[in-house]
Amino acid sequence: MGHPDFSMEHHWLPFTPNRGFAQTPRVLVAAEGMHFTTHDGRQVLDGISSLWCVAAGHKRQPINEAIKQQLDTLDYATAFQASNDKAFQAADMIAAMAPGDLNKVLFCNSGSEAADTSLKVALAYHRARGEGHRNVFIGRERGYHGVGFGGMSVGGIPANRKVFGSALLPRVDHLRFIHDPVKHAYIHGQEPVWQEDLLLELEQRILPLHDASNVAAIIVEPVAGSAGWYIPPQGYLKRLREICDKHGILLIFDEVITGFGRLGTGFGADFYGVVPDMLNFAKCVTNGVIPLGGVICSDRIYTQMMQAHAGSPEHAIEFFHGYTYSGHPVACAAAIATLKLFEDEQLFARAGQMGRVLGDAMHSQLRGLPTVVGVRTLGLAGAVEVAPSSLPGKRAYDIFLECFAQGVLVRPAGENVVLCPPYIVQETHIAQMVDVLAAAIRKHA
Ligand SMILES: Cc1ncc(COP(=O)(O)O)c(C=O)c1O
Repeated sequence: MGHPDFSMEHHWLPFTPNRGFAQTPRVLVAAEGMHFTTHDGRQVLDGISSLWCVAAGHKRQPINEAIKQQLDTLDYATAFQASNDKAFQAADMIAAMAPGDLNKVLFCNSGSEAADTSLKVALAYHRARGEGHRNVFIGRERGYHGVGFGGMSVGGIPANRKVFGSALLPRVDHLRFIHDPVKHAYIHGQEPVWQEDLLLELEQRILPLHDASNVAAIIVEPVAGSAGWYIPPQGYLKRLREICDKHGILLIFDEVITGFGRLGTGFGADFYGVVPDMLNFAKCVTNGVIPLGGVICSDRIYTQMMQAHAGSPEHAIEFFHGYTYSGHPVACAAAIATLKLFEDEQLFARAGQMGRVLGDAMHSQLRGLPTVVGVRTLGLAGAVEVAPSSLPGKRAYDIFLECFAQGVLVRPAGENVVLCPPYIVQETHIAQMVDVLAAAIRKHA
């Protein structure tokens, strides 16, 4: 790999080992469809939708045109005390897609902001109902909800929390991890059936410990994405919904990864037939091209928050929260074009269909390779888990580097290597990705 002709001194890379980066630089300078061009002119296949974002593939003209047109019409407008037409239109489209009574969209700019926004809504909602004492949050081990203090506190990936312990929210607990590496090491599109009831602990230990009446919300990803594509047991999310209902606890689905088609349905909520009280989204909503995130809240939450202010003066704000760029017109124009493109090209159905091809390829080619201890596939995503070497995470990282050198971008996550390509992926791309991954696994066995 050649070295770029620009300085690499000043950019501190996020979630990346920085010290050796300049020795093996991975710099992307252009993209089209399924491929990147690197700084040294190589083509690299985007096997991870660029962090689960680029569902419709790169450089899609309808999205780019919408952005350009928006820049020439209304570049930016204040988000507070006024708004813009594109924010209303995007919110309409998102609410129309969302299941049940999820109808009110609070925009932000990222998944991390969506997590913190949803936790703040939960506190404000309970207070509006006269239950301000509900201030305990429950997340799940290995859950990921971004890097804000709220999301990090309910998140359950140890490395993301370790250094920041003293600043985590105080009243937080975590559900058990949803994976059994022995009984459910290999999951091929189906929902794993557990003999044991994983949520018994919530009912019998966690809720009694805090007293259920103090719990504001439970937040989970329908499928745990960032940790390495961990699939919930059959019936798990339905039962979680029932427990929340029984105790007046809000259920938040973090669908930053599962939202907008990854499982072949609009949302994970549709896939599992469970409607949460809030649904967080980001990433694919703009095909990743412009930052946009949000929380879709139920009518019940919104109505309660408004009613609590029925007696307040007209100028009183009901929820003291928002970002300068909430509902940015350019981001919302990108979202409108993206959602239309998803519909025009029936891309969610395509994700479901290509997911089966990906699942078949991963299971048939990766299972049985040296060091492989699991393969989990669902929707258009899959993870292969390798046995750890003496240094945690090193084998998956080496496999990632090797795949990149061979022209395929994959994602290391702990001891997993994840594939989650754009929904426009073709069978030949899947064959290439899985071949390259298999060879890299053999090389690093
Ligand atoms: C489920 C989930 N929530 C939140 C986030 C954080 O999103 P962002 O990086 O946009 O802040 C992510 C990012 O991968 C995610 O997967």
